[in-house]
Amino acid sequence: MTDVSIIDQQHRELVTMLNRLNDAVSNNESRENIYRIIDDVIAFTRLHFATEEQLMIQSGYIDIEWHKEKHQELIQDALHLKAKLAYIGEELFTDWFNHWPFARVLAHIQYADNPFEEHILQSDIKK
Ligand SMILES: [Fe+2]
Ligand SMILES: [Fe+2]
Repeated sequence: MTDVSIIDQQHRELVTMLNRLNDAVSNNESRENIYRIIDDVIAFTRLHFATEEQLMIQSGYIDIEWHKEKHQELIQDALHLKAKLAYIGEELFTDWFNHWPFARVLAHIQYADNPFEEHILQSDIKK
């Protein structure tokens, strides 16, 4: 498996998990269930970010510090929002889903990860 296909596969897995989370919210599943899925998403996201950052070091990616900062922000936001869920009602809970995690994660994949994947492809060609 190439480095890019590993990243792509993790992105697909992440989207599948986020869809599962979205379904759980739409189906009014218990908060307990929803929290569990959120924890799974956060754990998988950490693993995915670690994979990307490792590949950035290996391939000498110039924007690594900026990219790592974006990863940290996403994790911090997720943890912050998860903590906030305990205090908000159903309406805000659903509203939260319209803004996070889909929009932010998909934007990150599109605007931050795509240039990095392009960089890996280019450095593979040079090898
Ligand atoms: Fe990514
Ligand atoms: Fe990333």
